[in-house]
Amino acid sequence: MSLIDKRDTLIKKWLKKAAADIKESLKSDLNVETKTKRNDLVTNMDRQIERDFVEQIQYHFPEDQIVSEEGYGDKIEDIHLEENTVWFLDPIDGTLNFVLQEENFAVMLAVYEKGIGQQAYVYDVMRDELYWAIKGKGVYCNDQLLPKMSDTPLKDGLFASNSMYLSDKQVNLNTEITKQAMGVRTIGSAGIEATELAKGSVVAYVSYGLKPWDVAPGLILIEENGGVLTEFDGSPIDLLNTKPTIMGTPTANEEIQKMI
Ligand code: IPD
Ligand code: CA
Ligand code: CA
Repeated sequence: MSLIDKRDTLIKKWLKKAAADIKESLKSDLNVETKTKRNDLVTNMDRQIERDFVEQIQYHFPEDQIVSEEGYGDKIEDIHLEENTVWFLDPIDGTLNFVLQEENFAVMLAVYEKGIGQQAYVYDVMRDELYWAIKGKGVYCNDQLLPKMSDTPLKDGLFASNSMYLSDKQVNLNTEITKQAMGVRTIGSAGIEATELAKGSVVAYVSYGLKPWDVAPGLILIEENGGVLTEFDGSPIDLLNTKPTIMGTPTANEEIQKMI
């Protein structure tokens, strides 16, 4: 079995267990704390799931490094993306949805070898939909291969963004984009929004505050299915130092870059 297949088998097994644990946790009260601000939440489950994954990754792949949200992985400054195998882990993407909606959140993982994205997983827990990709083999939802995305321009599709686009500071930035698109959608999980783009439900997703673990899986899934991710000025994504990001079909990405 290749290393990629070994990881793939383990990751899918771990994700199944994580999803079962998360669903079980919804039967009783969650322990919810705030982090940097009132709507930046962390729960006991974010921590537990991250701890479980980190433990498994370190046991099976002791040489690898881990970039993760809740602090159980390695320090960002110690990560050598170009030299090592690096795992990116977001135990629950969309924690606000997890707490307030009990849906629209995902467990996310991505593996990069020497800076090259090899495999990505975004598991929409409550829908039981696992979006996953191995480099060069297409993007799947569960067992179903997704068709490659068509290069739809902004005017013929939906535009997605996080809710920051509604704030005064950002509203001008998005006015033109919003006018051109057929409509605007906001889910509240960068990972699920990346899968929406990969499967063609939206033509672009723009976000201002994404972290490495928010972007790393989407980068693989979207590029694998024919889309483009860049920073606002068109530069390639710097995974360890993330900046405002445009994910889109090739045409929509270019159109948005020109408007920003
Ligand atoms: C957040 C979600 C949200 C995005 C934020 C992320 P979290 O992740 O992906 O949609 O707008 O920038 O931080 O904190 O729920 O893992
Ligand atoms: Ca996240
Ligand atoms: Ca998270």
